Amino acid sequence: MNDDIAVTTGDSSWFTNDRFGLFIHWGLYAMGARHEWLQSRERMSPERYAKYFRRFDPDLYDPRLWAKLAADAGMKYMVVTTKHHEGFCLWDSELTDYKATRTPAGRDLLAPMVDAFRERDMRIGFYYSLIDWHHPHYTIDPKHPLRFDPQFAEESKKRDFARYREYLHGQTRELLTRFGPIDLMFFDFSFPEENGLPGKGKDDWGSEELVRTIRSLQPRILLNDRLQVGGDITTPEQYMPKEWVRVGGRRVVWETCHTFSGSWGYYRDEESWKSVETLVKMLIDTVSKGGNLLLNVGPNARGELDPRAVERLEGIGRWMRLHSRSIYGCTAAPDSFPAPADCRLTYNPATNRMYVHVFSWPFKNIHLQGFAGKVEYAQLLNDGSEIKFKEGASESSMADGAYREGRDASTLTLSLPVKKPDAVVPVIELFLKSEV
Ligand code: GLC
Repeated sequence: MNDDIAVTTGDSSWFTNDRFGLFIHWGLYAMGARHEWLQSRERMSPERYAKYFRRFDPDLYDPRLWAKLAADAGMKYMVVTTKHHEGFCLWDSELTDYKATRTPAGRDLLAPMVDAFRERDMRIGFYYSLIDWHHPHYTIDPKHPLRFDPQFAEESKKRDFARYREYLHGQTRELLTRFGPIDLMFFDFSFPEENGLPGKGKDDWGSEELVRTIRSLQPRILLNDRLQVGGDITTPEQYMPKEWVRVGGRRVVWETCHTFSGSWGYYRDEESWKSVETLVKMLIDTVSKGGNLLLNVGPNARGELDPRAVERLEGIGRWMRLHSRSIYGCTAAPDSFPAPADCRLTYNPATNRMYVHVFSWPFKNIHLQGFAGKVEYAQLLNDGSEIKFKEGASESSMADGAYREGRDASTLTLSLPVKKPDAVVPVIELFLKSEV
């Protein structure tokens, strides 16, 4: 089995260096405040859903604040829903009136967001929903809000999906020609037939042609994998892979996206918010397996981030301020360095430093098997304080009346302070010897 990382067509060098991004789900569903799928879940017709369109007015929208919060959390790129399944567009598309400029907001909401994040040196990604519950030529399928409506089933037969396909290609062109260089494009999603209703996939989207267009407009762009024709980035969702993600046996560039709570869009009454500690551990775990984490916020209908999200972003930022060098530029440790119990390892090949992320602070020692002879110096990352270590074999003994367990020759044992350092996840930085 070949362990090389599969080659990407787009430029993934910045992506595998930066590791941590912000996902933004923002659209009319923020007003319903009960999941971005509410139109489908509640089987709402476009006419009923229009109550949101007529009143969408995010008067407190300040993308500079969003960008600051993301940058302070240590995020290096963003991916925003330019259009979600509901079909509503944040930018001033020439191909539809179902867009922010035609709501009480009265302006393009995407352009200032792109500017604000660029001002913070963040890379820009566009999410674009292949699914569209508003377009007059988008046909019935198992995800559609009106999937159980016999009248819609009839009407759908008269729809010309080719016209929708043209629209989606045209909008993609707009997104890739009006906002300067775009670093990443996240299409969402293809799905199989269900309950007798046909699914939609690459032939419906015209994926192959779409990819050719995208590559010709923006050759360096990274493409995700939901067009059913492969892609540069594999994107597991709300799932922590147990090892480096492989496709066809090869390690790939991958990114897992997660919510703070259960919903992508703003959800007022959702309470299952992850703690800062869980989120930091998810970031570390992802990087320790060679992946990226894309963490989502769902801004509300006034245009603000949920205070619960702000609190998490700030908490992550406190950890990142001191520990980001165990994340940026890092990847999985070489296989010859196994992670000890309750720890994750990340490794920076450029600086030849290894990071031991301690998920559960132990009493006094961590035994690192296979590390003896390979470490020059060790320190805690939060304060740069030295961590002493012993190496090599020792007999088990009762010499002084106290039992000590033997270690094998390859073991390096770190001597830790008894008190856990003041960090949600303490990290020990190991300077490796150059010859290893
Ligand atoms: C799913 C959902 C969608 C969300 C996306 C994020 O495909 O349909 O609501 O935007 O996941 O990856």
